Parts: sequence; C-alpha cells; structure tokens
Amino acid sequence: MTALLKCATPNLALLCTMSEPILQGSALLERFQALDAFVVEHQALWRPRPFTALQLPWEADWPELAAWLRSRTLEQAEADHGQPWTIPAPTPFPEWGQQAQALTRLGQLPRKATPPPRPVSAIAAIPGRKLQQIEAFAACLQFSRAPNHWLDWCSGKGHLGRWLTQAGQTLTCLEYDPMLVEAGSALSTRLGIKAQHLCQDVMAEDAAASLQPEHSPVALHACGDLHMRLLQLASAKGCAHLAVAPCCYNRIAASHYQPLSDAAKASTLQLSRDDLGLPLSETVTAGARVKRQRDRSMAWRLAFDLLQRRLRDCDQYLPTPSLSSDWFDKPFAAFCHDLAALRGIPAPGEQAWDDLQEQGWQRLAQVRNLELVRNLFRRPLELWLLLDRALYLQEQGYQVRLGSFCEYHLSPRNLMLLAERA
Ligand SMILES: C[S@@+](CC[C@H](N)C(=O)[O-])C[C@H]1O[C@@H](n2cnc3c(N)ncnc32)[C@H](O)[C@@H]1O
Repeated sequence: MTALLKCATPNLALLCTMSEPILQGSALLERFQALDAFVVEHQALWRPRPFTALQLPWEADWPELAAWLRSRTLEQAEADHGQPWTIPAPTPFPEWGQQAQALTRLGQLPRKATPPPRPVSAIAAIPGRKLQQIEAFAACLQFSRAPNHWLDWCSGKGHLGRWLTQAGQTLTCLEYDPMLVEAGSALSTRLGIKAQHLCQDVMAEDAAASLQPEHSPVALHACGDLHMRLLQLASAKGCAHLAVAPCCYNRIAASHYQPLSDAAKASTLQLSRDDLGLPLSETVTAGARVKRQRDRSMAWRLAFDLLQRRLRDCDQYLPTPSLSSDWFDKPFAAFCHDLAALRGIPAPGEQAWDDLQEQGWQRLAQVRNLELVRNLFRRPLELWLLLDRALYLQEQGYQVRLGSFCEYHLSPRNLMLLAERA
C-alpha cells in the first residue's frame, strides 16, 4: 500500500511516499530520529493524563478541539475502534494523526512458505490465541544459519520453544515460576522433546550462566526489564541470532526508562514508568459485563476525585488504590465514605450523591474523548522503544529487522525484532 499523505516535514514526506517497510539497516536510525522529533515536540499532548487533571495544558492552545472532544459521548469516544486518527475532529487533530500514522508505518516480516507440520498433541496443549501468536512468531524466524539450540526466555510452560524445536535440535527454557517449570517439563517429556526446563530468575546474577553463545534465544511477550536483560546478555555472549517480541514496557525496576542505544541516550526524551504505560493503554476487547464494571469503577473514581478535592480543600488528584469488585456493589454514598476513610481524608457527610455520581459519568465521557489525543501517540512511543532496542543490537554488531509478526487483533503487542550476527 502506498501512502498518499500531506506531510509537514521533509523526513515525513520521505516516509509518506514509501510502501509498508520492514525496518532495517540505516532506516532504523532514520525512523528513530523522525519519531524522536515527533514525540519530543508533542510531549505536552501525550504526557498529561485526562484522568488525573481537570484541565489539560494543551486545551488553552486548541480550545475548539478541546470543546469538540468534551462535547462528545462515551459511546462516541469508543467508536474509533482503536484508530483515533479516523475521528472527524477539528484541526490540528487530523494533522497529528497523519503524522503519527506515517511515522508508524511498518510492514509484516516475511513468513516461511510452508511451516513444518506439528503433532496434534503439541497443538492441543496450547491455548487458542497463544497458539496463533506462536505460529505467527515461528513463521517469521528465518535466519541464514539454522539454529541448533533454542533458548525460550521467560518461557512460561515453554510452548514457543517446543513449537520451534525440530528433530536434531535441543531446547532450554528459563522461567522463574516453579509450577510453570514443572508443567512445561512434563509437557516436553510427553511430547518427546529434548528440553531442559530451568527454574531461573533471569534478572539474577547467575542468569548469565544459563545463556550460551550457541543458543538462539527467543522471547515472546517478556516484559520490560526481562527482555532488555536478554538483549544485553545475548549480545555480550555473542549469540548468533535472537528474536524478541516485547511487551509491558513499563515493568521496569527503575523509576525512569534507561535507554540502551546511543541514539536514545542522546535524546532529550525522559520517560517515566507512567509514560511507558501509554503504548499499553488501548482498551482491549472485553465482554459487555467486564466493560460495564470497568466503566463504573472509573466513573465512581472520577466522581470521588471531585469530592475529595472539596473535602481536602485542595485542587489536586489523590491516587486511590486498586479495589476489589465488591467495592462497586455498594451504594455510591457508601463507596465514597469508605474510600475517604481508606485514604484518611475528612468524612464526606451528606452530599447530593445522585448529582455527584452523574458528574462522574460526564467526566468519564470527557476523559475518554480527551484521551483520543494521547492515543495518537501510543504507537509512535512504542516504535520509539522498539527502535531503541533495535539500534542497540545494531551497535552490538547484529543485522536487525523490525516488523510485525501477527495482526494487531491477535495481539496488540505484535512487533518483533529479528537479529542476526553479520
Ligand atoms: C507474559 S508471560 C510470557 C510467557 C511465554 N513467553 C508466552 O508467551 O506464553 C511472562 C513470563 O515471564 C515469567 N517471568 C517473570 N519474571 C521473571 C523472571 N524474573 N525470571 C524468569 N521468568 C520470569 C512469568 O512467570 C511468565 O511466565
């Protein structure tokens, strides 16, 4: 598909004329720099969270856009189907959307024509959606030399590793949950696969000893620090190839993101753990009951936020802990009383509870609509993070390819890095 977009900057103009590319070679740094300029320039749009602020700083700059978003309903906010750039919002929203789309254009990694057949018993052991993700991940693994020894990093039961392991190959799975290690080991024995399932905390000092130069590490949906550690250890050991599909970028021990590549280290962008949660914030396709519960929880919290500002005589958001579902089975007044007591703020006394609850629902509609602006930056920020990892591997002497390995609906974390020593 060739994109026909009006583009503001020369870099963007170049990207807009290209068909969906796999990123590799010098394109990795070019795309990183274009994305870096975009996310840095628009920080004021994606950093502030409508859930915690009554007014967003950018609203003063674009009052027409802010008023338009605030006038919409909850249903309208959700009708974008995860494609915020499609909504008919006033300028400059469409321009931001076009830029975000052009900068995140990314092709599908080439797939093997005929994946080798797998025994029915191997297929039956893997839950449905995970099976499709594994098939898609495996189909993209094309290296110039065939791997001898797969290493499944943060393997769970080791479904991915087992799927990849062919006759004549061996498998090591690293996982720190003993129950998963045991279940994985039993499955490998049952399927006759030569595998070692090691109970190993990959963040521990001794994890390096479990990784050998002859291993070909794979990691499907290992969280923040876990996959970053793999990139560092595997490149230090000199592994010939590796394949990683990251997730949960915000699961890091540090309070702020520690970039890996020289280009990201040179950027002025500082990312907090909260910021790192932005790429993960899409509303996943939940059932109607779960969605109703989630909406009610958010509307009540937003109403409580209005109340607590009055009770404390302080116009600031007060974080509330995660609450079990029975909190939302109480009457709304009891919910507010109990939450005030939990947070140690003055008791609410008598209030116009129906009005307050209604204000919470109105705020929820506004929050979801204002979030459409932030949502434009989810994918750009995710690709920035992926490119940091890709550039780091390139600096370590790998040839790197970056693209998608499955459709977005199968997993929103559908981007994959393939690295092979030159
Ligand atoms: C999101 S799951 C992915 C599992 C598997 N790769 C898959 O796609 O089904 C992440 C896995 O990492 C494991 N894990 C989390 N922290 C770990 C650590 N420090 N060391 C080893 N494994 C860890 C979890 O127990 C879990 O099985």
